Amino acid sequence: MATTSKRAPLAAVVLAAGKGTRMKSDTAKVLHPLGGKPLAWYPITRALEAGAAPVVVVVGHQAEAVEQALRAALPGAPLRFAVQVEQKGTAHAVLAAKKALRGVKGPIAILSGDTPLLQTATLQAVVSARGRARRPLAFATMALDQPRGYGRVLRDATGRPARIVEEKDATPEERQVGEVNAGLYCADADFLWKALSRVDAKNAQGEYYLTDLVAMAAKGGGAVPVPVDPLEASGVNDREELARAGAVLQRRRASALMKAGVSIEVPERFLCDEGVEIAADVVIEPDVRLRGATRLGAGCRIGQGAVIADAALAPGVTVRPYTVIEGPATVGRGAILGPFSRIRPGSELGEQVHVGNFVETKKARLGTGAKANHLAYLGDAVVGAGVNVGAGTITCNYDGEKKHETRIGDGAFIGSDSILVAPIEIGAGAYVAAGSTLTEAVPPGALALGRAQQVNKEGWVARMKARKAAEKKGK
Ligand code: UD1
Ligand code: CA
Repeated sequence: MATTSKRAPLAAVVLAAGKGTRMKSDTAKVLHPLGGKPLAWYPITRALEAGAAPVVVVVGHQAEAVEQALRAALPGAPLRFAVQVEQKGTAHAVLAAKKALRGVKGPIAILSGDTPLLQTATLQAVVSARGRARRPLAFATMALDQPRGYGRVLRDATGRPARIVEEKDATPEERQVGEVNAGLYCADADFLWKALSRVDAKNAQGEYYLTDLVAMAAKGGGAVPVPVDPLEASGVNDREELARAGAVLQRRRASALMKAGVSIEVPERFLCDEGVEIAADVVIEPDVRLRGATRLGAGCRIGQGAVIADAALAPGVTVRPYTVIEGPATVGRGAILGPFSRIRPGSELGEQVHVGNFVETKKARLGTGAKANHLAYLGDAVVGAGVNVGAGTITCNYDGEKKHETRIGDGAFIGSDSILVAPIEIGAGAYVAAGSTLTEAVPPGALALGRAQQVNKEGWVARMKARKAAEKKGK
């Protein structure tokens, strides 16, 4: 449910221009990945979920890279980008978004690009608190035992917020205040632009503070404080906080999945990207990592240590431990993969397929019930239904310049250690003798022998030994 005001829809500004010095990285802070998405994807997505349109992202440090990555991560979203060339403070950053918000008359939410744990309902609570109170501004506050680093909320004699003082500007008494500014706001558009035009940089940091808005609202209409869970407002400033935020997101994800009927054997040892879809009755063993556009159908079992990216698994697939799937790939109902299989891009594995240990597939289509249980490479291959691929079989798809295709007809039997030099076609129902190296087509139903003929020399060993013994005596 989007809690936008009845009169005018919600818009949002997400501040993401800062460098993030403490990350010690060549990558802009807001692009560091968390659950497969860039950090800023989270607050932007929460704003979109709250019904905000447009969402203006204020970029500065590595502006182009940040814009490109966020557009790619949110295709089709009503995003606009505004550049803040120099980072002169949070008020200055919001002002940079003014042009992109021309014509917006309703409430404007302001979020930080580095707060991935914010939940949509919390943002909605701030938005609706302002609407309900009919005040120019609402802002999120939190009560902290150790308020260090945050702006303190100072209240007047009647208990209403009078202003926010930044730590660096605060007196020792003011620093004792444990109620702090969480950095999440919702302002009326008219109020916002008028107030921002009056903010100056006369403070300890010489910055334009967005927090000055609280004092301005207090003088004209009032600022509504909305208490929120400190966890949700906590920002990511260094790699340790990034990892901690990631752990919280994973824990939330695991608990939502378990409520929806997914078994996760050890929730603390489960990693899952945003956007992965998992049906009920899937069982996930420890140390599984699910990435990208992966979808798991009902009743799949994912073995310990499996890594699955961009793959669609039909219901009832078993992935045994330590299998790696790099999609795009599809796996049909009831298939069994692993342990230790490697499924690479373009693999389409049919129903009831078995792919076993140390088998690699790439751009390979395996028909219903096809089996390659041990030690094989199937690349650029079309393998028919019911085919049995023996251990050690290799499709030689690459001639040093180009890739070529191997086609194996339904029901064919490929003996162990066969080398199929592509392009080649093995007819339906054909048998390939173990150890064959084949360079030419095999007709359907034929037996192909592509190996040196075996010769047995009866009694040869005894004759050889007798000759050696005679030679020794003669010396
Ligand atoms: C800010 C608040 C503080 C609050 C805290 C909550 C101000 C002056 N202070 O402090 O009261 O307790 O957040 O986390 O607002 N940014 C820009 N351009 C700039 C400056 C900042 O885009 O010129 C972005 C940053 O990238 C970041 C966000 O704004 O995403 C917050 O800025 P930051 O410098 O971290 O503010 P704090 O000092 O933490
Ligand atoms: Ca901060």
